[in-house]
Amino acid sequence: MLAVSEACERNKGPILAVLGAELAASRSVLEIGSGTGQHAVHFALHLPHLSWQPTELGGELGPLDERIRLEGPPNLQPAIALDVRRHPWPVGRVDAVFSANTLHIMAWDAVEHFFRGVGAVLAAPGVLCVYGPFRYRGGYTSASNAQFDRYLRQRDPLSGIRDFEALERLASGAGLALAADHAMPAHNQTLVWRRGAEE
Ligand SMILES: C[S@@+](CC[C@H](N)C(=O)[O-])C[C@H]1O[C@@H](n2cnc3c(N)ncnc32)[C@H](O)[C@@H]1O
Repeated sequence: MLAVSEACERNKGPILAVLGAELAASRSVLEIGSGTGQHAVHFALHLPHLSWQPTELGGELGPLDERIRLEGPPNLQPAIALDVRRHPWPVGRVDAVFSANTLHIMAWDAVEHFFRGVGAVLAAPGVLCVYGPFRYRGGYTSASNAQFDRYLRQRDPLSGIRDFEALERLASGAGLALAADHAMPAHNQTLVWRRGAEE
């Protein structure tokens, strides 16, 4: 039986609406931490102009491979193992990078590696879209996110909801400028950073 994330089922529609606009000019997308593959299948199916490259930690590829085998449209590539902490990332240049609900799961040093890796593989022009909950000016966007953060940190002290301003600093260091911050259902955001065309 395929692994199913209920959160993915709820958020894939709203995220698709954002990606449809933000990735309209992109052709190749690298997804980091594809999980069950529900997002990868849904977005590849509804955005057929994109070649979608899903990835996961090597030990977590099984459920993702299975979903791609059973449900993957032709523009969804076979998944590859990618740990953001291991450089260089095993991919070529891409027009876009997407990741959902990963930055509050990985430790902060892995978040730093994430932006370093994105900076290395993203073409110019290029776009980075990151979906999830974030903190702003040291505060939560909802009581439920504050509770979720407590839960995350009790489970793994290295995890936790990330500060938007700290992510902005990493993005800026990777040569990316904030282009949009989309408010999403359930107190989530889709952050969009862009790198301009080379002169
Ligand atoms: C909460 S799940 C989100 C999965 C999927 N993107 C979704 O929205 O359902 C977090 C994901 O981050 C991945 N992850 C954690 N650390 C990682 C790392 N160092 N490199 C790449 N992926 C990582 C996990 O394997 C997991 O699939």
